[in-house]
Amino acid sequence: MRIGAYTLCNGLLVAPMAGITDRPFRRLARRFGAALAVSEMVSARPELRDSRKTRLRLDHAGEPGPISVQIAGAEPQMLADAARLNVDGGAQIIDINMGCPAKKVCNVSAGSALLSDELLVARILEAVVAAVAVPVTLKIRTGPAPERRNALRIARIAESAGVQALAIHGRTRACAFEGRAEYRTIAEVKAAVRIPVIANGDIQTPEDARRVLAETGADAVMVGRAAQGRPWLFREIAHYLATGERLAPPAPGEIGAVLAEHLDGLYSLYGGEHGARVARKHIGWTVRLLPGGEAFRSSVNRLHAAHAQRAAVDDYFERLAA
Ligand SMILES: Cc1cc2nc3c(=O)[nH]c(=O)nc-3n(C[C@H](O)[C@H](O)[C@H](O)COP(=O)(O)O)c2cc1C
Repeated sequence: MRIGAYTLCNGLLVAPMAGITDRPFRRLARRFGAALAVSEMVSARPELRDSRKTRLRLDHAGEPGPISVQIAGAEPQMLADAARLNVDGGAQIIDINMGCPAKKVCNVSAGSALLSDELLVARILEAVVAAVAVPVTLKIRTGPAPERRNALRIARIAESAGVQALAIHGRTRACAFEGRAEYRTIAEVKAAVRIPVIANGDIQTPEDARRVLAETGADAVMVGRAAQGRPWLFREIAHYLATGERLAPPAPGEIGAVLAEHLDGLYSLYGGEHGARVARKHIGWTVRLLPGGEAFRSSVNRLHAAHAQRAAVDDYFERLAA
């Protein structure tokens, strides 16, 4: 699949997840075979640009390209300025968030709230595409609500504005994360536009990925929550899509080594104490299905210092491997 001048190595993308898909997670996901990992959204609002959170979200040191930065906001000019600034800061693709269901994204009606206002969507996309020389991509839901699924109209607006790829989460804004994602709307969009379409929502296994690609005809799939605590899922999906065969799951020794690398990345990005706080959820997701995982999770959550957390994780995996 191509996004502008970039040819991706496969049709497997990491879904942006604020608070989760930071640089350490993206690096792991990319190493395990994901072709593109969009950054967590950063606000387009000028007063938030210099915040520590935004700075950390924009840290792409050592990440393989193409670097895709997601911006969120509701004002065409503000988004255009943010796109320009992020390109100056190293973004090679600008992704616009019209998929987040939160009522307010960074205190404005942004994210999927924009889908109700198609004229504003057009103004935003035209402004951002005109502002930067790099490809602009868009992430949406299927519409504001099940009775108002306008993904097809939004996709046509995006295509005419010069957007170069469209990711669609198969739920409406009103659905939040309830029920199951539906792929029929994604298939309709794919059949109607020429730009690459990326299908997203509830893809949990390699078989899901293949089925969704077949059902929608999409150019790629995007995976989010199922990769929490198991970034090697991208390796399993990529292998299955390429060969039709299932890879064996990683042994505890490899899981421990991946988690240790992830933790070191978090400590180095956020600093020890903050990094250890961020790490808790990743540790919990990683060990939840492993023997004694639940008891280990509660005990490790009582530790505050990075070195103590890291030592406990090493110890848990050494015992597991023995
Ligand atoms: C914790 C969390 C944070 C998210 N943050 C973002 C975000 O910053 N930008 C965005 O476009 N979507 C965001 N999403 C939506 C995901 O990108 C994705 O569309 C959704 O989770 C459905 O895919 P999945 O079923 O594979 O998780 C977030 C989802 C979760 C669970």
